[in-house]
Amino acid sequence: MLVLGIETSCDESSAALVSDGLETLSNVVASQVDLHSSYGGVVPEIAARAHVEALIPVVKEALEPADGAPELVAVTAGPGLVGSLAVGVSAAKGLAWSWGVPLVAVNHVEAHAFAPALEGTLPGFPFCALVVSGGHTLLAEVRGYDDMRPVGQTLDDALGEAYDKVAKFLDLGYPGGPVIDRLAAEGDGAAVEFPRAMMTSGDLNFSLSGLKTAVIRYMRGAGEHAPAVADVAASFQEAALEVVVKKTVRACLELGLRDVVMGGGVACNRRLRDWLGEKCAAEGINLVYPSPELCTDNAAMVAALGYRLYELGYRAALDLDVYTNFRLGTDH
Ligand code: KG4
Ligand code: ZN
Repeated sequence: MLVLGIETSCDESSAALVSDGLETLSNVVASQVDLHSSYGGVVPEIAARAHVEALIPVVKEALEPADGAPELVAVTAGPGLVGSLAVGVSAAKGLAWSWGVPLVAVNHVEAHAFAPALEGTLPGFPFCALVVSGGHTLLAEVRGYDDMRPVGQTLDDALGEAYDKVAKFLDLGYPGGPVIDRLAAEGDGAAVEFPRAMMTSGDLNFSLSGLKTAVIRYMRGAGEHAPAVADVAASFQEAALEVVVKKTVRACLELGLRDVVMGGGVACNRRLRDWLGEKCAAEGINLVYPSPELCTDNAAMVAALGYRLYELGYRAALDLDVYTNFRLGTDH
């Protein structure tokens, strides 16, 4: 079955064609990074307007490999920015109606967790999912394509958001994750001892806003005696990732899960991949993450999960709304 996926939850306009939830025929992504970089973060109104301009050309390009019309349209209906989501959902409804094909609503965070299906590396159920992006920091137990139960999440900032805010403060540009990733590789992660929030909280939740404040306070206090920026970036990264690595392994052990899938933009991070890989290997846990282009926002993951949900009987009506707080495993 040929599925058109549409993704506009944040600042990437993306459309993709995926066959049977497995084979990617196209995956077109138009990034808005240049529009938002001078603000140091995504400006919702600018994002929504940019989706309006970008989406139709992106869909047209994604459809190029298709012989006829797709047989299903899958769209991210949430969570995300309301104006951005509305652009994708409106386009998806119009296309599904004009082609006379069914429509399926996909949860963006769930789509990240199933992205390895497109590379043939998705483990069997159940598995643990770690979704770390600019908007989400979540640990979940995944028992099926429509059964993802959150077991831990951030109580404030998302992990990628912390990278972006710290990078903005350090004048490193936007998005901050890739820059800090590169810079930290040259720095000393033990140069500054930043707090590991909630490390001993006894649950699987996270808190990252205090770490950002600790970096700002430290830099203001140190003034001209501050260590090299690479050392500060590396020290921030060590503090942020240590809690994520430890709690992910703990989640697997507590839930008796032998596989963990990591997704979302921060899953591109080299230190996180290496560190979590090492700790998982030591416990006999299999760690899976997709290629970088399938970690960051893309419509192929939406089409892939949409196909599975369709197979399970899910259909969205043409009055489909957007869900800025789409609940995992429930609203479809
Ligand atoms: O999944 P994504 O494309 O969009 C959201 O759903 O949020 O993730 C974007 C986030 C940004 O915060 C960005 O700074 C972060 O992922 N990111 C990284 C890296 N690449 C992207 N964070 C750390 N290291 C990276 N290499
Ligand atoms: Zn995302």
